[in-house]
Amino acid sequence: MGLQWVFFQAILAGSLVLAILQSWAASVSAQGQGFLSLNCGGTNTFTDKNGIVWVPDIPYIFTGSVSQVSASAQQEEPLKSLRFFPGSRKKNCYILPVTPYGTYLLRATFLYGNYNTLGKPPSFDIQFNGNYWSTVSISDANTRVYYELVLAPPANDISVCLAKSTPTDNPFISSLELRQLAPSMYPKVQENKALSLHLRMNFGSVSTDDIRYPSDPFDRIWSSDAPLVNNYIPLTTNRSVSPGITFDKPPSAVMMTARTTANSSLALGYSFSLSTLTLNYYVSFFFAEIATLAPTDARIFNIDLTNDINNASFFGPLNVQQEATAAFTSVEIYANHTSLQGPATFTFRPTSASTLGPIVNAAEIHLVFDSLTSGTDNTDVTALEALKSSFNLTSWTGDPCLPAPYTWDWLDCNNSSPPRVIALRLSNMNLSGTIPPSFSKMTALTDIWLDNNNISGTIPDLSALTNLRTLHLQNNSLTGSIPQSFSQLQHLQELFLQDNDLSGPVPTKLGSTPGLTFRFSGNPNLCLPDNTSCSSTVPLPPSPVGSTAGKKKSNISPVVIGVVIGAVALILIAAFVVFCVRRANVKALERQQIPLSPLSTANTGLMSHKDPPKQTQLYTFEEIRIATQNFQKKIGEGGFGPVYFGCLADGQEVAVKMLSSTSNQGKKEFFNEVDLLSRVHHKNLVSLIGYCYESKEQILVYEYMPNGTLRENLYGSMVSKRPLDWKTRLSIALNAAQGLEYLHTGCSPAIIHRDVKSNNILLNKKLMAKVADFGLSKLAPEEGATHISTMVKGTAGYLDPEYYITNQLTEKSDVYSFGVVLLEIICGRQPINPQLSRPELNLVEWARPFLQEGRIHDIADPALRQNYNTEAMWKVAEIAMMSAELHGVNRPTMNEVVNDLKEAIHLEKGTAAPISDANAASPFSANQAQVFPRPHRGPLDHSSDFASRENSVVEGR
Ligand SMILES: *[C@@H]1O[C@H](CO)[C@@H](O)[C@H](O)[C@H]1NC(C)=O
Ligand SMILES: *[C@@H]1O[C@H](CO)[C@@H](O)[C@H](O)[C@H]1NC(C)=O
Ligand SMILES: *[C@@H]1O[C@H](CO)[C@@H](O)[C@H](O)[C@H]1NC(C)=O
Ligand SMILES: *[C@@H]1O[C@H](CO)[C@@H](O)[C@H](O)[C@H]1NC(C)=O
Repeated sequence: MGLQWVFFQAILAGSLVLAILQSWAASVSAQGQGFLSLNCGGTNTFTDKNGIVWVPDIPYIFTGSVSQVSASAQQEEPLKSLRFFPGSRKKNCYILPVTPYGTYLLRATFLYGNYNTLGKPPSFDIQFNGNYWSTVSISDANTRVYYELVLAPPANDISVCLAKSTPTDNPFISSLELRQLAPSMYPKVQENKALSLHLRMNFGSVSTDDIRYPSDPFDRIWSSDAPLVNNYIPLTTNRSVSPGITFDKPPSAVMMTARTTANSSLALGYSFSLSTLTLNYYVSFFFAEIATLAPTDARIFNIDLTNDINNASFFGPLNVQQEATAAFTSVEIYANHTSLQGPATFTFRPTSASTLGPIVNAAEIHLVFDSLTSGTDNTDVTALEALKSSFNLTSWTGDPCLPAPYTWDWLDCNNSSPPRVIALRLSNMNLSGTIPPSFSKMTALTDIWLDNNNISGTIPDLSALTNLRTLHLQNNSLTGSIPQSFSQLQHLQELFLQDNDLSGPVPTKLGSTPGLTFRFSGNPNLCLPDNTSCSSTVPLPPSPVGSTAGKKKSNISPVVIGVVIGAVALILIAAFVVFCVRRANVKALERQQIPLSPLSTANTGLMSHKDPPKQTQLYTFEEIRIATQNFQKKIGEGGFGPVYFGCLADGQEVAVKMLSSTSNQGKKEFFNEVDLLSRVHHKNLVSLIGYCYESKEQILVYEYMPNGTLRENLYGSMVSKRPLDWKTRLSIALNAAQGLEYLHTGCSPAIIHRDVKSNNILLNKKLMAKVADFGLSKLAPEEGATHISTMVKGTAGYLDPEYYITNQLTEKSDVYSFGVVLLEIICGRQPINPQLSRPELNLVEWARPFLQEGRIHDIADPALRQNYNTEAMWKVAEIAMMSAELHGVNRPTMNEVVNDLKEAIHLEKGTAAPISDANAASPFSANQAQVFPRPHRGPLDHSSDFASRENSVVEGR
């Protein structure tokens, strides 16, 4: 079996390489492949006279306002509309998807057109990937100004930021274009090197028009040399010029014209202003013989570079190719700026052996950006992503710190390399959501200001933030206890926690830490350590807490406390006084390190005035019994027991999941799930509301998802009611993928779901999907001595065959299962159909031959009635099949799946050019469009062996 795997892999790898090459070949012949053309501020997709498809810029940026140039500017789209950026944001960024390490041409175009009737074009900066690009300077309101870069970034997107360099001027942009170039072009461009266009010229052009797409398949803009004052003789040919041996592929249309002189005693000379002192230039001239020469003719010349400081022989002698259709030569210099101050003159001087004047067809001069940043510290960037998603700060894009001083407005960075985030200033930002655990990864943080928002959830362990001086969390809705670990922070000077819903004991040590100002008033459920109770009506000691606080000792034993509480609680409930009670099982909880809120009578839900309670609640069995009206309405059967519908005292509808006593789920696993769910919050994950743990009863209370499971909606009881349409299916797929992505990347350590299936994807009232059931979740790989037969968990049909064989659990096992779910979504079929014989019984193997023959319509769910965009469906099918690859390493990550699904949604909506090459997040995607329609793909029969083994073993459990 092992050998067969290797063989299969080799074939597959070979076909991948082929597919990549073929997909690139296709990309240059058809516009849309590798082109992304944003009509900034535009609303419609349209095709211009050159056949370029322009799309609105809105999916690529979250900020800015839309306007149009004044009528007198007489412009057409894409230059008629524009996006401008009022307000004080230091920078506003576009995020453009690319294939990592692909070579791209990026062009930003500006036409002011007096859109704001101020009669004065603004001045501002443009930036890319955290680097300064240029200062935009516009001299004429109605003339287009553009800036171009050639770059090959290692990431899967490019950011283009418009930065406010003066307080009064608002940046704007008219269009933004991305063109994927052939891999051989501009070899000077590397991961940390880019070229910025200074000049691109078509010598001897027959008209003053630019030459660009489709004459140049890469849509570079070649300007006419008409503006240059010269008396040189134009040459032109009707025969096309092949690009020959040059890397940079100037188009034939440009090479078919040239300039020369009357005879071999006359030189050609051009002066270009290369005035920037701080940068190097990269100069290319392109030559091709386009005249018909007599046998005795020779055209041989040297190129000299002269300027105010130096005279230097630059290149030569050059003997341009005799045949017009033959290859031409390019000359490149990497000029040292110290010898290039002021205008540089290039002189083409015939040698004595030449019978003809010199010739030049085209030129490109680029500035060399040769030390590009790789951006802000990657750990900080990842943690900020989690923070953005938790607090809905998604409109902040581009590099958080770079280029200095253009950070995101609400953070400060140091100037280390790479820079680190040292302060977060998010006071009064109207934030809701929870503080993500990944927060603690930003270890350079000294100041955190999150006060005066509506942040909920618990305070994560921040003990890793050893540089922290200031932590302001006051006036939010934070719950849970105050982490003991605060006392480990050596440099902490201000800890402000007042006016939240924190509960439990106030850590004693904090009160006695010298130099620390600690405030915690206005948290009615906080209590001083070792007190049996504390009343909300009695104000807590003024902060900083006195060192005497907490010294009062209680002599009452836990048993007595329990008895007292029983009686006192009733009285207190009646009196609406909130008590904070320590009970024996609080200690049990603490021993298990469950950061749940201590049990307080306020948590019973019976007397809660607040809506809805955000913290994880503890319920008594009696409360659960009442909420479910004595377990009347069963709404499902989970892996461990029945699930009932319930309604809490505050009216909230819930799903009550009973963990049957016969289940293997021990106390440890129960608390594992409670612990996980209380810490994991994401809009695409089903929230845990509370739990009940009494001697025989283990119950989890979840938010109720009225539209049931995805499975029911695809081929179960809900279908007759309303089959899901394709758009809804796409959005469900994306929701679920985002939920899993969050488990894999937003949690630390990563969480592997282990039982991804359509039955564990639930739909809320608005058919938004959330991933449920973390019952099998484990914090990422931790198991020691385990055995396949006992430890492999999962559901037949979804189980990752590699995990089954190797017992190595990774996030990619979830990706496999999710691939199966995607196929269910497409096909409306269950993953294992016992009525069919192998290999058809397994959905992946059933679908594969259809896809290989390009017959996607034959597997699409008939209930869709062909009501879908075929491209979008192909995209999803490709994601599904890549996700269900045999080997985990060949599967995309959930992050890549999410990006590809977003692309599928764009395809479905027709809101984006189908730039599948350019924005593919996974290295595999670039070739997928070609993988399936081609019939052969290697000895696939082996994979059905897995299907059968997997099935027999799992069902035999
Ligand atoms: C190119 O072709 C046009 C018409 O096809 C002709 O008039 C012209 O003279 C040709 N030019 C050259 C340089 O051969
Ligand atoms: C070269 O051309 C120039 C301008 O037409 C002319 O003055 C000169 O005499 C020519 N030289 C030769 C060697 O033909
Ligand atoms: C640039 O030129 C100066 C002076 O000729 C020389 O000292 C320096 O090393 C050169 N720099 C590079 C990068 O070639
Ligand atoms: C997130 O913020 C944007 C504005 O930046 C707002 O339009 C959107 O409604 C917010 N979403 C949520 C779920 O609050």
